[in-house]
Amino acid sequence: MSDTAFTPRVFSGIQPSGNLHLGNYLGALKRFVDWQGKGVETVYCMVDLHAITVWQNPADLRHSTRELCAGFIAAGLDPEKSILINQSQVPEHAQLAWIFNCVARMGWMQRMTQWKDKAGKNQQNASLGLFAYPALMAADILVYHATHVPVGEDQKQHLELTRDIAIKFNNDFGVDFFPVTEPVIEGAATRVMSLRDGSKKMSKSDVSDMSRINMTDDADTIAKKIRKAKTDPEALPSEAEGLEERPEARNLVEIYAALNEQSVDQVLADVGGKQFSEFKPMLAELAVEKLAPISSEMARLMNDTSEIDKILSRGAQRAREVTAPVLRKTYDIVGMVPPVET
Ligand code: TYM
Repeated sequence: MSDTAFTPRVFSGIQPSGNLHLGNYLGALKRFVDWQGKGVETVYCMVDLHAITVWQNPADLRHSTRELCAGFIAAGLDPEKSILINQSQVPEHAQLAWIFNCVARMGWMQRMTQWKDKAGKNQQNASLGLFAYPALMAADILVYHATHVPVGEDQKQHLELTRDIAIKFNNDFGVDFFPVTEPVIEGAATRVMSLRDGSKKMSKSDVSDMSRINMTDDADTIAKKIRKAKTDPEALPSEAEGLEERPEARNLVEIYAALNEQSVDQVLADVGGKQFSEFKPMLAELAVEKLAPISSEMARLMNDTSEIDKILSRGAQRAREVTAPVLRKTYDIVGMVPPVET
């Protein structure tokens, strides 16, 4: 089947399960903002149903969902231009996920590296939701017939599974109904690494807060974390090949490039030969310049969460105009008897 029959539509999501960090911003959120200007419909989601696949304190979850929405807006997403939603207010996500639970195979889920990482050694004690996580993710995307999904590198395998689910559904029922979605993994920082260990990705679950820059960090904290970031004793190279085998150096250069909207080669053309004692203050200054306005705008928006709640409700209404007909049609294809006027 061809993907081209489907009107282009962008969908992506972030979990409201703690702090929004620089990896989320450079790998995903900044890219979401880029798509907003391309004349394509864009839908961005706070995936609260995904967040509860591991334990969330209810009050914290509510706070994080609103704060994530504030982060979306502060980073440049305009609720008039993009549809902003939290997943649980658009019930068709969970309803389509059930259908996909019946299409996807256990073996597909077992192969997911995120499942293996998150469930750890004690898989028997992980939630059923954590195992079925990728089917809900496929539903998020396909309930909009989304064609493009901007994400960081770590979501690649889940997006391949989304394609497998769409293809199997279409084959099983002999239809051309769900698009085969394109992952869009772009930019200089598709995999931002921990500031303490260049072999681990920056993540909200790292116990050390010094390993990541949170979007709520103030200027002093951002500068301190960069000053203390792990590096090696060599000067910076003048070409990208010189960063091979130097994961910490590469990470800081990629962060600089992504924040400054340059390529790694362009950055190295300027800073090649400099020591980290000179480069780190440059990076800290750039990071503060780009991130501090976002964190202060987030704080301002969080002063009035009723405004955020209205934005999410309005987003859900707009979203359901798309998702309700797609779900109804899916049910028809599968063979569910439709409701009639009584
Ligand atoms: P989540 O919440 O873990 O991360 C949100 C987005 O941030 C990206 N990201 C990173 N990018 C670069 N470097 C990093 N260190 C880094 N850490 C995170 C992720 O790749 C992601 O794009 N399963 C998804 C949420 C989701 C979703 C969806 C995404 C649910 N449904 C449908 C796209 C479409 C997740 O857990 O992302």
